[in-house]
Amino acid sequence: MERHRSLRMTLLLAAGAAGCSNAKSPDVAVVTLGEPQATPRDAGVPEEPGQPAPRPPRGVGWVTERDGTVHRATRVRCDATIDQRACSGTERTFQCRTDADCKEGPRGKCVSSFGQIGAYCGCEYACESDAECGASEACVCKGTGALREQHSVCAKALCSVDADCPGSTCGLSAYFNGCWEQVTLACRTKEDTCLSDADCRSSDESRGAACVVTDPEAESVRWECAGISCAIGRPFVVDGQPRAAQGAARDDWRAPAELDVASLSPEARELAAAHYAAVAALEHASIASFARFSLQLLALGAPAALVGEAHRAALDEVEHARLAYGVASRLAGRAIGPGPLLEAATAPLGAGVAEVVEALVEEGCVGEALGAAEGREIAQRAGDPALAATLARIAADEERHAALSWRALSWMLATFGEPARSAAERAFSRAAARYAVDPAPGPAVHEALGLLPARALGALRREVLAEVIAPCRAALPGLSCDSITPQPSSPPQASF
Ligand SMILES: [Fe+2]
Ligand SMILES: [Fe+2]
Repeated sequence: MERHRSLRMTLLLAAGAAGCSNAKSPDVAVVTLGEPQATPRDAGVPEEPGQPAPRPPRGVGWVTERDGTVHRATRVRCDATIDQRACSGTERTFQCRTDADCKEGPRGKCVSSFGQIGAYCGCEYACESDAECGASEACVCKGTGALREQHSVCAKALCSVDADCPGSTCGLSAYFNGCWEQVTLACRTKEDTCLSDADCRSSDESRGAACVVTDPEAESVRWECAGISCAIGRPFVVDGQPRAAQGAARDDWRAPAELDVASLSPEARELAAAHYAAVAALEHASIASFARFSLQLLALGAPAALVGEAHRAALDEVEHARLAYGVASRLAGRAIGPGPLLEAATAPLGAGVAEVVEALVEEGCVGEALGAAEGREIAQRAGDPALAATLARIAADEERHAALSWRALSWMLATFGEPARSAAERAFSRAAARYAVDPAPGPAVHEALGLLPARALGALRREVLAEVIAPCRAALPGLSCDSITPQPSSPPQASF
């Protein structure tokens, strides 16, 4: 269940504020970690989104304000325990074997983790106080604000406590860019373009999801809205069918691939090459899908931010295609690339509100979300580190593309009302039916190359529909709060 939490949160943020009557408002509290209760900031002081104003310091220890912003009023001792399970020795890869191998920080523990390369052992470090951290660092206690780390951590500190920020506060920025978390303490200033995360979820889509410090090394640090910046599959559907180019012998579409193929039999290599050539063709087709989407957005008068994101997503897909053709070529031992994508020239634009919404829901909101989840799963299963890294990078991009789709859908619902709403309801229902049954079994390919059996792929898709798509749908204004219940239907097209 929890393996899809990050994807669900990303898409929920993209979908915007909960508009469903069944959705719960987040609990809000004023909390001080490490020491006595903090005093909340004055209630009743209005804050206009987009007009942040540094607030005066007050409280003790880590102070969480009612809007979720966190600052450090005074130094406090943190709980330095690391609850993660110790390395067992049965993991796939090892950065450490015992705690004695972990010497780069305070209280090092060699723990068992699970990441894009599968189960591994790695060092974690926890601090109790600033004294255990490096120069210009501070110890951030476990559970503070939006911190994702499961234990206290030493973080870059441009300030240590509120007193270092005259007339303002020393804020905690915990920025998860989709790949890793960057934790920083920095003064809040009048130059900031946001005060709290709520400022980043306004109707101005360009503002992203969280108010954070994105570049603590900048000459002039400021707080600004940011979303996932580090993030598989938007099909190019024409007349109801996904379209892709035929393969061609060419090597101007292949990125270098360091894949280890020595352990694979010729048969396994050929099967795997065919699979990744098909993946590459779908990635190549995604370029056309985003190109068309960009034109649709322009035709509908969409905000600049959405149009810009659609173009950037198309460039991501160029790279995905190169990466996948690189893997396919390496496996095949010959250059593989795309032939002409003929439908790119003949596909109708289809810029009506209902058409755009239905395609957006099926290809983007559902298709790319499933692709992101499938990509992560396959990356974790892939035994080859280079392949795992390539797949993980593509999955991360796809998650960002899915978020773009949810943002675009949210904008269309708000802008076009009932026609958009009813089209979205139809498309979500169709998507639920499509993914209710397992895909047709693919060729048997070496598992080390990361392929999922059809049954496992079907189960994963249904899981994502229930745990990610349904709650995100319920968070969109005007849509029904019913969960998506996959209904049996004809076998679907594979989307990855
Ligand atoms: Fe892609
Ligand atoms: Fe994509």
